[in-house]
Amino acid sequence: MKALVLSGGAGTRLRPITHTSAKQLVPVANKPVLFYGLEAIRDAGVTEVGIIVGDTEAEIRAAVGDGSALGIRATYIRQQAPLGLAHCVLIARDFLGDDDFVMYLGDNFIIGGISDLVRDFTAGGYAAQILLTKVANPSQFGVAELSPEGRVTTLVEKPKDPRSDLALVGVYMFRPVIHEAVRAIAPSGRGELEITDAIQWLIDSGEDVRPHLVSGYWKDTGRLEDMLECNRKVLESIEPAVRGEVDPASQVIGRVVVEEGASIVRSVVRGPAIIGRGTRIVDAYVGPFTSIYTGCTIERTEIEHSIILESCTIRGISRIEDSLIGKEVEVVQSAVRPRAHRLMLGDHSRVSIA
Ligand code: G1P
Repeated sequence: MKALVLSGGAGTRLRPITHTSAKQLVPVANKPVLFYGLEAIRDAGVTEVGIIVGDTEAEIRAAVGDGSALGIRATYIRQQAPLGLAHCVLIARDFLGDDDFVMYLGDNFIIGGISDLVRDFTAGGYAAQILLTKVANPSQFGVAELSPEGRVTTLVEKPKDPRSDLALVGVYMFRPVIHEAVRAIAPSGRGELEITDAIQWLIDSGEDVRPHLVSGYWKDTGRLEDMLECNRKVLESIEPAVRGEVDPASQVIGRVVVEEGASIVRSVVRGPAIIGRGTRIVDAYVGPFTSIYTGCTIERTEIEHSIILESCTIRGISRIEDSLIGKEVEVVQSAVRPRAHRLMLGDHSRVSIA
């Protein structure tokens, strides 16, 4: 079995972070979202992984490399334009050959892995198996209807009037017959080859398509709130460990990871939280559900429920909450008069001032 991981999307809802970075590389508890997926694939026993990349190819390649650090073998497949999930299968034909495969959307976040699904599919002999979960807002997803005996009967992409509350989670299992399906379908109204249409083609051709209900936590990490939620979920069960320096004037309370080379000076860190390598926390307070990545300086600042990417400087800010801050950002108290907010923000930045 092989895996096809889709990591091409533009991530418009996470701008401005995604003007310069791939959304799949935003860290959750100091590990890129994409890595959780790759590890879940590896843990299910699949090591040959094709990664579909787009404009952020260089960045994804730099992070994943040949995959050996994650226990996989990565092959990169370039998608020239975002022409749909089924288009990804189309262009991955040579890589996939005639193997069964799991298709995994690189921005989806699942706790509990996919080993059960892979086992179920391998034992079942179905043409396809799709991961489903009940959601409150089905019209934002692909929606499945099931027959009384538990087959998938219809799949509709983002229906206005959903006929069930079962949403497609971004993990799909396929036998090679899917290649016929992706060649047979036409682009949808939004100009994309939809994987839902390809699966519907299988069903209409008499193939057996089965659901697999997600038991654990799942999130499609498109927006800031989703990233913060995933970050909370992972930090809640992180194994506490202090590998960096904590001076005697500091307090580290609860589930906290202080990575190697990080230092906590005259500060309070109240977990769950993670402080990355080489980051300095000085005269500061880091509150619950905060992940601070590598090489940052947090000084005379209070921060909570936030994700900070690498090499940021935050100094003299009384309180930061619910925030996602990109790489090498500087947020500092102004020393010059008149006292004012002085901003240099990238396109699509969002600032909310207390
Ligand atoms: C895609 C799929 C959709 C699925 C969703 C899960 O939508 O087309 O069927 O429910 O992923 O994340 P997208 O996020 O590309 O709009």
